[in-house]
Amino acid sequence: MDLALADWLNLVFRWLHLVAGIAWIGTSFYFIFLDLSLRKRRALPPGVGGESWNVHGGGFYLMQKYTVAPAEMPEELHWFKWEAYTTFLSGFALMGIIYYWGADTFLIDPDVADLSRIEAILISIGFLWGGWIVYSLLCYTPFLARRPVLLSAAVFAFILIFTVALTGLFSPRAAFVHVGAIIGTIMVANVYFIIIPNQRVVVADLIAGRTPEAWLGDEAKQRSTHNNYLTLPVLVMMLISHYPMLFSTAHPWLVVALIIIVGGVIRDFFNRMHAGESGRALQWQWPVSAVFMLILIGFVSYRPDAAIADGDVPDEGEVFAIVQTHCVACHAVKTTHPDFKQAQKGVMLDTLADIRKHGDGILKQTVMSRAMPLGNQTRMSAEERELLGLWIRAGMP
Ligand code: HEC
Repeated sequence: MDLALADWLNLVFRWLHLVAGIAWIGTSFYFIFLDLSLRKRRALPPGVGGESWNVHGGGFYLMQKYTVAPAEMPEELHWFKWEAYTTFLSGFALMGIIYYWGADTFLIDPDVADLSRIEAILISIGFLWGGWIVYSLLCYTPFLARRPVLLSAAVFAFILIFTVALTGLFSPRAAFVHVGAIIGTIMVANVYFIIIPNQRVVVADLIAGRTPEAWLGDEAKQRSTHNNYLTLPVLVMMLISHYPMLFSTAHPWLVVALIIIVGGVIRDFFNRMHAGESGRALQWQWPVSAVFMLILIGFVSYRPDAAIADGDVPDEGEVFAIVQTHCVACHAVKTTHPDFKQAQKGVMLDTLADIRKHGDGILKQTVMSRAMPLGNQTRMSAEERELLGLWIRAGMP
């Protein structure tokens, strides 16, 4: 991989992905709020189901929702779809740049599964689309389609099963990013294959003076409700590479489950608040999500002491040798790794003084999690990690 080019492409597509994602989530949050805040306090024009007064940027907006076609179709009708499509396209480009181009480093972990590059990439693409197919099958199962709560439970379970499968194939970090990408793909596919096409049929019916079939709206509503509840969890999955404590867990499915519960419950709070509910309806979400967050923090994330067994503290010479073997290729004044031409994240580990300076970082990245050495290309052993941990815990003598 030509590092400089990969880094620049990474920056450009990440920037685009972030902006598109913010625009998508922003409009989606706004329209959910708008829909839930519609009221019918006075006589409204024919065809208007409700209205909402908003104030923003020095002006007042009167938003009215027509549930049937307005008497005259406006000349200009604004659709909101490119935010979602751009988020997907830029996200997939990023996946290609980081995880396919850099498959040996970021996607494949030989200790998890010794895949070839091409195998790993095909599996990744298979999972991205496989997720959408399984999700669609669940939504089209008549028994589940009639029972929204059961359907949500089934979708939740399938995401957890996919998580277990992915963590058996890819590096922990790549596995979690894939869970996020699969959820994100489902959300965009919901927009592309269901919500927008159904909307087009409804618009055509309304223009022609026909009453649109109810299932078109029901199906779009079902999918957009799923998207709404998945929005907050998917963001955490996308940021996961910054948090080895989340992805280096012995129970990946539990981490994913807790993130979905916490994010979904918080989303529910906002939905109900926008709908004008009060009292009991709004009192349970924050405490419940706090409890689940505490479970996540307490039981799932790394526990510094538990990760380090008792044993003899190694001397500094041994530690130096371990770091020389496994780290300095990418973390030195002059790196030797073909893909990494400068010290990664500015972390240089050439001397014992350097190693001591980065003791905390080494503990987090190498002992409490297996984030480093990246891709474990040098096959660092559990014993070596343990020795580093013992030495750092003992105050780096
Ligand atoms: C194959 C190259 C490679 C090897 C070998 C490697 N690292 Fe890294 N290291 C990286 C990269 C790339 C990053 C930046 C990670 C990112 O941005 O997610 C990094 C980041 C770090 C960080 C900073 C993390 C942060 O987010 O601040 C620490 C600390 C670290 N490595 C320690 C180590 C230690 C200790 C070893 C040896 C046991 C090691 N690394 C081996 C490539 C490597």
